[in-house]
Amino acid sequence: MPEHYIPALKYHFLTPLYDWFIRLTMPEKKVKTQLIQQADLRAGETVLDFGCGTATLTLLMEELHPDCSIVGLDVDPQILAIADKKAKLKNSSVQLKAFEGRTIPFPNNTFDKVLSSWVFHHLTTEQKSNAFREIHRVLKPKGELHIADWGKAENWLMRFLFFIVQVVDNFYTTNDNVRGKIPHLLSQEGFQKVEQKGNQSTLFGTLTYLKVPKN
Ligand SMILES: C[S@@+](CC[C@H](N)C(=O)[O-])C[C@H]1O[C@@H](n2cnc3c(N)ncnc32)[C@H](O)[C@@H]1O
Repeated sequence: MPEHYIPALKYHFLTPLYDWFIRLTMPEKKVKTQLIQQADLRAGETVLDFGCGTATLTLLMEELHPDCSIVGLDVDPQILAIADKKAKLKNSSVQLKAFEGRTIPFPNNTFDKVLSSWVFHHLTTEQKSNAFREIHRVLKPKGELHIADWGKAENWLMRFLFFIVQVVDNFYTTNDNVRGKIPHLLSQEGFQKVEQKGNQSTLFGTLTYLKVPKN
């Protein structure tokens, strides 16, 4: 039984529309390609897509780096069923896995890279800390976490647009992002160095790219 989580578009009945919605409102391909480039994946690496949703990032990683071993992990069985259909259509060999939202179901030091797009703003502060602790545990000593998610607003327009998102969505999971607290939460879980690799203005606010080496 998964712990409480917020579905991709807040309500379960909207989940089938997620791919359509994100493609229409966000520069999705650009964001996901940029995150993959930032992660600098190498042949033979083992990679986790944390909160993979419909597996768009997972499958794009496989397309660009077929020589990596790729796992998509999510807490929501409904969205994973969509991911599974997409993977089958592509004859993909990525591994898609459900978990209960707490313990990443892999041993310590499993992954070279963990990538995650648009996930942490769905998590409470406590859930973010737990996820960062777990990601730190499953990363190899030289491993890296790469994040694309909402960050501190770059200007008042971005802050206003994100405020609308917070009203529609919710404040209790998104405040850490827009207040720029993600680097601090990461450092509390053992990630000493958090590098901000860039910002992107979008319809819903500022998207921030982070590179976070384990050591
Ligand atoms: C906005 S969607 C993003 C999906 C995908 N990463 C993307 O970029 O399109 C957020 C995802 O986070 C997942 N999620 C929510 N809580 C989670 C948790 N505790 N652990 C892992 N994933 C979670 C949701 O099920 C959903 O698929």
